Amino acid sequence: MRRLDQLLANLGYCSRREARGWVQAGRVTVRGAVEKDFGAKAAAADVRVDGEPLDHPDGLLLLLHKPTGLVCSHDEREGPSVYGLLPERWRARNPPVTSIGRLDKETSGLLLLTDQSELVHRLTSPRHKVPKIYRATVAADLPPALIPLFASGTLLLPDEKEPCAPADLKILSAREAELTLTEGRYHQVRRMLGHQGCTVLALHRPQLGHLTLEDLPAGQWRELPLDTFGVIPAGP
Ligand code: URA
Repeated sequence: MRRLDQLLANLGYCSRREARGWVQAGRVTVRGAVEKDFGAKAAAADVRVDGEPLDHPDGLLLLLHKPTGLVCSHDEREGPSVYGLLPERWRARNPPVTSIGRLDKETSGLLLLTDQSELVHRLTSPRHKVPKIYRATVAADLPPALIPLFASGTLLLPDEKEPCAPADLKILSAREAELTLTEGRYHQVRRMLGHQGCTVLALHRPQLGHLTLEDLPAGQWRELPLDTFGVIPAGP
């Protein structure tokens, strides 16, 4: 049960002050009856605004096909971001919608977005070893010796204390490879391949865990059930 003004503000409808005005103006009903007390508590499922059920009151989990050219940051100084693709109401939610891990500005592919912080922690924790598959196009022919090197778990990148966890490299053609990682270090694919003389020219992530983009066009998302990863979050 949540206060009506808090519920509307947290779901991104408007500010808390505006929500009070909306409630006092009779725009909000609880179980079919107009409720003019903005401090009244209600279950989100019982609330309507202008006759409509609330927008995803239990939380959001989105699978986005990130296009290149957008950053995964809420800091506007870093330039256009993936959050700009979302409806304004979702961008105004609190807790905020954030990405589960990040893709570089020039990397495209599968990116999960959620307002469920528990899910962010679970899926980004190295302990859970969620496999992430990347397709890279590189600037030099790929030496087959990279396959056992990456698989060995001994590759130490500059300025790192721990070697990279074993990673599965498939060479698809002279300059194209698929790399499966279970960790998510900063610019990891670009650094692993670049360190071996294969500068990455293009990078795409088609798969994360059991999820794939299928035919989702770049810039679009599809909603996933909140229990996709086996947890049913408590909701806001
Ligand atoms: N590795 C990279 O280098 N970039 C990404 O965006 C993801 C993994």
